[in-house]
Amino acid sequence: MRLSEEELLREAKAFINQYYSENELDGAYRRWQEIEDEIALTGSYTHTFEELDYGAKLAWRNSNRCIGRLFWKTLKTIDAREVATAEEFEQALEHHLAAAEQRTKIRSTITVFAPLGSTRKEPFRIKNYTLLMYAGYREGDRVIGDPKNVDFTRYCESLGWKGRGGDFDVLPVVYSVDEGPDQWYQIPEALVSEVEISHPEHAWVAELGLKWYKLPVISFMGLRVGGVLYPAAPFNGWYMLDEIATRNFGDEQRYNTLPLFAEHLKLDRSSPFWKEKALLVLNEAVYYSFEAAHATIVDHHKAVDQFMKFVEQEQVLGREVTGEWSWLVPPTAGSTTAVFHTEMKDELKFPNFVGA
Ligand code: ARG
Repeated sequence: MRLSEEELLREAKAFINQYYSENELDGAYRRWQEIEDEIALTGSYTHTFEELDYGAKLAWRNSNRCIGRLFWKTLKTIDAREVATAEEFEQALEHHLAAAEQRTKIRSTITVFAPLGSTRKEPFRIKNYTLLMYAGYREGDRVIGDPKNVDFTRYCESLGWKGRGGDFDVLPVVYSVDEGPDQWYQIPEALVSEVEISHPEHAWVAELGLKWYKLPVISFMGLRVGGVLYPAAPFNGWYMLDEIATRNFGDEQRYNTLPLFAEHLKLDRSSPFWKEKALLVLNEAVYYSFEAAHATIVDHHKAVDQFMKFVEQEQVLGREVTGEWSWLVPPTAGSTTAVFHTEMKDELKFPNFVGA
């Protein structure tokens, strides 16, 4: 998607004004004139690092589906706009994974590659939903691995990638450069940090052989700042407990482990409550395993408390928080958290993350 010059000018101006005023800087008008000239000459303009960094932070602050926005100012921006070759691109992805996890603590990080309309090159594009994800293989009427990724896995295979056929094979990163054909890159195993799932009271959980990676790195979205589109801008936060436990392991159309948990727990499946009971043990298992590994994870109650603090903090500054209620309410025990009882507008503000 490209913006018209009118949209570009309008959005650029609004962003520059916001950047200068929120940071109490002088010289917005001078900078605006510079940008206007650059757009007239080249059809686009180049952000300073500081503008890009603040723009990425604002994109996070404006992400209506994200419950972790209290920490928007802590985002670390890695400027990869000059990356030109496939080799440099792959190195930049590796650098992102290494930088985002320092001695087991996760730092929210974004790596920004070249924008659309830069004069030198066509931008990189990443086809993965997230940089790290597990393959799914259909075998007759069952699936080995993550059923969500069956189609993508088959696509990777069509490009020449071959997995081990296991439940937790890390898929490659599929990307294109200069609008050429898709190519794949396997991230070295040493850079994929995972947590094996066990349970402090139920020894059998460890024997199920479940594990999950620590870094959710969204890579299917582009970054839109001041009218400029950055199609490849992978960013990560850390996991909220129910994303892994309740959804990835619990969803029937994902790893579907609740029947397995129910069996080991000898639950009466004619009772309407067996899923809740199984979910609780599953959530405990994921939570305590991450804690024991000193890996960053936030439970849904704490995440909602942080979100409500963010709402309050924004209100004090005279800004209204927008949000998408159905995404913000945690899937586990939703109504016991404050966000369930909070009304909000789902209004799109820029900068933001957009479909690349
Ligand atoms: N729910 C997605 C997954 O399980 C990740 C979405 C982003 N999550 C995050 N905590 N930043 O892979």
